[in-house]
Amino acid sequence: MTQTPLVYLSGVSKAYNNNVVLRQADLVIPQGSFTFLLGHTGAGKSTLLKMISGEVKPTKGKIYVKGQDITRWSGSKKANWRRCIGYVFQEDRLLTYRTVYENVALPLEIHECSRRQIKDKVISILKVLGIGSKAYAYPDELSGGEKQRVSLARAIVANPEIIIADEPTAQLDPITAQEIFSLLSSLNQSAGISVIMATHEWELVSKTKYPSYVVRDGLLMPWEGSI
Ligand SMILES: Nc1ncnc2c1ncn2[C@@H]1O[C@H](COP(=O)(O)OP(=O)(O)OP(=O)(O)O)[C@@H](O)[C@H]1O
Ligand SMILES: [Mg+2]
Repeated sequence: MTQTPLVYLSGVSKAYNNNVVLRQADLVIPQGSFTFLLGHTGAGKSTLLKMISGEVKPTKGKIYVKGQDITRWSGSKKANWRRCIGYVFQEDRLLTYRTVYENVALPLEIHECSRRQIKDKVISILKVLGIGSKAYAYPDELSGGEKQRVSLARAIVANPEIIIADEPTAQLDPITAQEIFSLLSSLNQSAGISVIMATHEWELVSKTKYPSYVVRDGLLMPWEGSI
């Protein structure tokens, strides 16, 4: 018996006013898979990811999560789906009035974890990501790469069902970028968390065997080695 895909896009189109970004996109994200999304600047990668999380509504088409059409969802159903997602936003969405610790604690607070659990998890994840010493700094006191690690820590701290990572290695040096990719890959392999990662780093993508797609001229297609 084939498993229902975690996410399934059927004939999805998106236009912002008259600017058509995606046309008739079809995509299957199986449960437990790692999927890359490539494409030039402005191609529509972030738009596609935001439609999967429910933040942006498609102009046409259906998006199914475990067989249910999320384009019809609102309120609590949408909020429940969002809670299953660890999202690494391309733009900086850290709360500037909260410390690193408090930013990373946020998803655990939403999941109503105890203070003790929150402390243990946040401290350990910050250590894993090499920013343990920045726990009580504010986002404005961090470098771009450090902020990106905080965003990643916040995305993975609550054991999400799926990680949507929008260019999570964009501001990092090649060695750190490789480390972050390895971390996502091991979360996928050992914990079975599904990952969708948008990136410009096609060299990194070409070294893996993960299914990869490219958005080009409004069309989503399997990536075959060039963008
Ligand atoms: N909220 C919005 N309102 C209007 N146009 C938008 C909006 N968001 C994105 N766009 C436009 O849609 C197109 C695709 O943008 P998107 O952010 O999805 O590209 P991208 O592939 O993620 O690019 P990058 O690699 O630079 O992050 C661009 O032309 C952009 O200007
Ligand atoms: Mg983008």
